[in-house]
Amino acid sequence: MDRIIIRGGRRLEGRLPISGAKNAALTLMPCALLTDEPLVLRNLPRLADIDGFGHLLNQLGASTKIEGTRPEDFGRVMTIRAGRLTSTEAPYDIVRKMRASILVLGPTLAREGRARVSLPGGCAIGNRPIDLHLRALEAIGAELETEGGYVAARAPGGRLAGGRYRFPIVSVGATENVVMAAATARGTSVIENAAREPEIVDLCRCLIAMGARIEGVGTERLEIEGVDRLHGATYAVMPDRIEAGSYACAVAMTGGDLTLVGADADAMRATLGALAQAGVSVDEERDGVRIRSDGRLRPLELSTAPYPGFATDMQAQFMAMLCMAAGASVLEETIFENRYMHVPELARMGADIQVRGRTAVVRGVDRLLGAPVMATDLRASMSLILAGLVAEGETQVSRVYHLDRGYERLEEKLQAVGADIERVGDG
Ligand code: EPZ
Repeated sequence: MDRIIIRGGRRLEGRLPISGAKNAALTLMPCALLTDEPLVLRNLPRLADIDGFGHLLNQLGASTKIEGTRPEDFGRVMTIRAGRLTSTEAPYDIVRKMRASILVLGPTLAREGRARVSLPGGCAIGNRPIDLHLRALEAIGAELETEGGYVAARAPGGRLAGGRYRFPIVSVGATENVVMAAATARGTSVIENAAREPEIVDLCRCLIAMGARIEGVGTERLEIEGVDRLHGATYAVMPDRIEAGSYACAVAMTGGDLTLVGADADAMRATLGALAQAGVSVDEERDGVRIRSDGRLRPLELSTAPYPGFATDMQAQFMAMLCMAAGASVLEETIFENRYMHVPELARMGADIQVRGRTAVVRGVDRLLGAPVMATDLRASMSLILAGLVAEGETQVSRVYHLDRGYERLEEKLQAVGADIERVGDG
């Protein structure tokens, strides 16, 4: 397994390209299942999860073709064609490795009138149930039963009816599943308390480009008028707001002047607002977002919340950053029940963090010390990289496969703006 080695203390200066959004790509790819025509997705990031999702689509009978970019370019073009599905089953050995696989449930059910998807099981940050996905699909006409660790779904008469559903809590994935399934239902569907993340807006825009009829895009009430069929389209994935936010935290900690090329400030308001509150300067420019910092940071009080609130996917990165603030910060993780796996690893580097339930108190320290640390989940891994960028001495992060799921060519991007970072393979 590869490790990443960082020698801390370097300022970050220059321009850092932001890749297409992993969490948008993972809901745009299954849209291809809704039509027999090709869906061309541009600006796809080069990530393990994207490749994994491509294999899952292949398993269902869709072809996926990567083209049009040189290896050194960022952003791939993928043509997905689900001419005819040869399977309607997402097997356990794929789903257990990538929870987002559950996003083939809605589209496959809508396309074929039936689907069988393995229950995803939990992961490092929580038990991650899918009950809301199932309730929402039932509300638009699906008949579901769980047996043997799988969900078996069918649409009576081969086509979903449409219907109304109000989510009891906001769920990104469940909103995505029911929106995709409702697009070709017989009637109209109304989804209330829908997630409003920018990735959901990207999904709705892509579906509309394919011929779907959706009102209320970006709001918590979506009205989807089912159409008989969707056609192919070409759609560019939005820039990754979490990747951009992660690198903004990096320069906030190291000090420097970094332009996040291609970042969309409008999708990052809560993150950029928190950075400004910590004393970092944020400028929106024509080609991205420019972050400048002298490395001195003010403490913050932050609670994670569904969009447009402060993103849970930014919590671990901000915790690393606030380890260096002048004073005590308070973080509250309201979305997942176990998203503090990075705390013991940061503590090994000298961080002073107390966790009580969902609240973490982070007391700023003068310095962090490099150490061998272990990645546990995607965003926790990034918090360890960030700590390594400012720690004295050498930090070795192991199990970097977690990072490769969500950060395209991370060490290349950071080397290019001044970090002393390299990846070593264990052979
Ligand atoms: C998406 O996960 C993202 N993943 C996550 O990003 C992100 O942290 C999360 O949304 C919240 O923003 C992708 O988009 C692939 P949820 P998702 O359904 O859809 C509970 C990353 O680092 N819940 O909005 O799984 C759930 O347990 C990843 O890129 C139910 O109870 O998140 C959680 O407490 C990590 N029942 C809360 O809702 C359900 O049926 C929000 O989860 C579904 C969810």
